[in-house]
Amino acid sequence: KPQVMVLGSGRAVPEKVLTNADLEKMVDTTDQWILSRTGIRERRIVEPGVGLSELATAAAQRALADAGVAAEEIDLIIVGTVTGDMKFPATACLVQDRLGARRATAFDLSAACSGFLYSLQVAQGLMTTAGYRRALVIGGDVLTSMVNWEDRDTCVLFGDGAGAVVLGPSDGERGLLHCYLRSDGAYSGLLYNPGCGSLNPPTPENVRERLNSIVMNGREVFRHAVTSMTEALTRVLEEAGIAAGDIDLLIPHQANLRIIEAVSKRFDMPQERVYVNVERYGNTSAASIPIAFDEARRSGVLQPGNLVAMVTFGGGFTWAAGLMRC
Ligand code: ACO
Repeated sequence: KPQVMVLGSGRAVPEKVLTNADLEKMVDTTDQWILSRTGIRERRIVEPGVGLSELATAAAQRALADAGVAAEEIDLIIVGTVTGDMKFPATACLVQDRLGARRATAFDLSAACSGFLYSLQVAQGLMTTAGYRRALVIGGDVLTSMVNWEDRDTCVLFGDGAGAVVLGPSDGERGLLHCYLRSDGAYSGLLYNPGCGSLNPPTPENVRERLNSIVMNGREVFRHAVTSMTEALTRVLEEAGIAAGDIDLLIPHQANLRIIEAVSKRFDMPQERVYVNVERYGNTSAASIPIAFDEARRSGVLQPGNLVAMVTFGGGFTWAAGLMRC
């Protein structure tokens, strides 16, 4: 029986669109290369001076309005992100202040692209063991803040955004059924940002060396993403005693259409039951699942009572899957 359920959802992406044609003018690439390798046509990017808290607050406000819950009723805020406005305070505290959610306990959670599913599970744990009643779970990233716009291997992949859900007690039928979270730090060197922490602080020399941008072994990440997402989805279904054929909608992390297709194929999921919006947003990291979830809910693709499976993979490595009755 589920113990917590989604009461409302929201999303926010920047207005500014960066198309593949725009990228053709910035690095040695083509629309055809990007589209055929990734499925991405365009992504949204923030203007200078906009940090994650602005997008996260907008997504949260929409989720609160959708849920019919006031900010003062929120007692827990978790923001899954690796690109908070600042090293500290936590972006969750900045969102708390902007919302006026004065009663809330607020903190950030770092699990890269898996940040939203990790945060969902942590929120459920705190709600069921520590008495929290109304939680805001936000997944958001401004990955373009750590993109090297001269590196064609990475700069074509990412976009900015945030998605949010309001959680409350389950009605007994709907809600989070099961989550499966994993990580393996042995692979930390395949996808990371070396220069934004205590090891390589942003000294002029480190910034000059571009240590503050994303380093990625694309092929290895691709390979691990497919096997790990397959494992997570298999395990979450097994542990919940649910067959893949019973899933009404699969929401995979939107990193790359080829990863999504490879995973969907392994579960015989027909195209119409797999949510894809990577062509419009690129990889928004922790935001990708909650943005897709909100789009699916608001467009009617996801109906009350539907069974949704979510699956993700990201830096760490971290990977996760979740099953929810909507
Ligand atoms: N435009 C044109 N050519 C490019 C570009 C570009 N933007 N980027 C790389 N290339 C070149 C490479 O230099 C390489 O050239 P070479 O053969 O002369 O060396 C060639 O294209 C082919 O590169 P591959 O690595 O074989 O391309 P692949 O088919 O693996 O696609 C990609 C690369 C898109 C990065 C893919 O590996 C991928 O998507 N990996 C997963 C990365 C990812 O999603 N990371 C996000 C974080 S983790 C997550 O969210 C799942």
